[in-house]
Amino acid sequence: MPTPTLAAVVEALMTPSLPVVLVGLLVVVGAPVLLHLVLAASATYTVPPVVVVLGPARAGKTALATLLERGAAPALTHTSQAPHAVELAASSDAASRASFRNHDDASGTHTKFLLVDTPGHAKLRRAALAELARAERLRAVVFVIDAAALADADALAPAAAYLYDVLLWLQRRRAAKKGRAAAAVPLLVAANKTDLFTALPATMVQAQLEAELTRIRASRSRGLLDSGVGADDVAAADHDAWLGDEASEKFTLSQMAELGVDVDLLGGSVTATEPDVDKWWRWMAQRVQ
Ligand code: GTP
Ligand code: MG
Repeated sequence: MPTPTLAAVVEALMTPSLPVVLVGLLVVVGAPVLLHLVLAASATYTVPPVVVVLGPARAGKTALATLLERGAAPALTHTSQAPHAVELAASSDAASRASFRNHDDASGTHTKFLLVDTPGHAKLRRAALAELARAERLRAVVFVIDAAALADADALAPAAAYLYDVLLWLQRRRAAKKGRAAAAVPLLVAANKTDLFTALPATMVQAQLEAELTRIRASRSRGLLDSGVGADDVAAADHDAWLGDEASEKFTLSQMAELGVDVDLLGGSVTATEPDVDKWWRWMAQRVQ
């Protein structure tokens, strides 16, 4: 067989023939499809995991976000008016022992994640809660409260009411997406400002919150009854609006775990001189891995 000359090869390629047309079509149609598949597969890695920080006004959310971002607590913070995300990197080490400052360290593997600081003012709460729904890869929620202000009933009631709404949102999300691993979003109650001598210890913070959440739960279900809807409707609505264990008289944070929402409560502080946030940082680092 004579070796084909260059001219013969070119001629064969240029002559319309079925195989050549088919290969051409495959390249033209297949390449974009392949590119799309490759990009779509890697998209989950380009969207970072998200931790949303919620809580009443002046609790210390912005101070915490700033401390974790810059390594130092700000001397002065302003009332937040809009959600603000900071990018952090949790090293796999940090999950076990190292302090939050470790994220400056270039060694080891890091998981980048977004910490979304939200405004605590009651009028901006809708925008804050919207961050929960907006986050594509919501991994955890940190609810910051001022442990020094909690002894005051004026501060306790609105803080607990906000926490109730957040817990109910997580409980509903979990129920709606049952079976999907990504739906399990845990919550950390960060009892802040433990450096102040008026601050309640963590166990007291928990007891106060649970007592108030029990009250809120009872009054919300009574509110439904009083509003004149039929008993059957109440039973149906109750099922959806009732926080925690349905058979329980008293609400406890541990009831949430049975419904797939793990809740932890840890004390700490975001002072400029001696911040105590390592426990919170470790909690977050473990949840974004
Ligand atoms: P909003 O943006 O209004 O929702 O408030 P926030 O939760 O972002 O509070 P922010 O971080 O602005 O802190 C409020 C005030 O509390 C600031 O003056 C902080 O310096 C102070 N603060 C925050 N954390 C601590 C703490 O652990 N101890 C003490 N003593 N003060 C703190
Ligand atoms: Mg703020």
